[in-house]
Amino acid sequence: MSIKEKIVVLTGAGISAESGIQTFRDADGLWEKHRIEDVATPEAWRKNPSLVLEFYNARRSQLLQVEPNAAHLALVALEQQFQVTIITQNVDDLHERAGSSHVIHLHGELLKARSTKNEILVYEWRQDIRIGDTCTLGSQLRPHIVWFGEAVPKMEEAIAAMPDADIVIIIGTSMQVYPAAGLVHYASKFSNKFYIDPQAHQTFIPGVESIASKAGNAVPQLVKRLLASK
Ligand code: OAD
Repeated sequence: MSIKEKIVVLTGAGISAESGIQTFRDADGLWEKHRIEDVATPEAWRKNPSLVLEFYNARRSQLLQVEPNAAHLALVALEQQFQVTIITQNVDDLHERAGSSHVIHLHGELLKARSTKNEILVYEWRQDIRIGDTCTLGSQLRPHIVWFGEAVPKMEEAIAAMPDADIVIIIGTSMQVYPAAGLVHYASKFSNKFYIDPQAHQTFIPGVESIASKAGNAVPQLVKRLLASK
């Protein structure tokens, strides 16, 4: 029996762009229509829960209309030869739908709702969340999303995966949001690192091979290359 090499894949909004989900900080990004502080903070929720629910309801119903793309699908093939952990900032379920078996969602999941009274009460949720939808304790449900200013509960699990990675692949993230953007610094200096993003050359990450290209094209190519190297 041979021990498989480990790959950690860090993904951001860019990997889902070709599925039709807008990124956050590109020119046509969501934040143009909504300021972050109006929809993605605990203050926004206190001030205008209906607006926040409406925003995430729209994201959820859009998610149910789109499909994983070539990049999500290619990452699944890596599991033939490697032990793969995907750490995603995305709240969509496109990695899971593509078939990836180990996905850590740093910023929560759109298809889940959670209690506002006890955060461990989390429910599968595919419809709209409305004012008056409550948890088993009777308190209002909110999106299961990590808002700006909130702790990132999965961070420890994500950090723990980094030092053992033989290969780190970063895909489609502007590397602007912490703590997620800091994860790469927990990787071993001996690991092989790749960064696939059309803007890859604008963000310098030491020791990383930058591939300035769209994920739908570049991820299948890189996966092919890594599988061929085995
Ligand atoms: P951003 O919108 O900041 O960055 C998206 C990145 O995707 C950019 O670097 C683009 O160049 C790249 N991109 C665009 N099209 C691409 C394609 N076809 N293939 C590959 N890359 C492409 O999104 P994130 O870095 O994911 O947090 O943002 C991080 C967090 O900020 C999000 O998780 C979200 C947001 O606020 C929360 O909602 C808590």
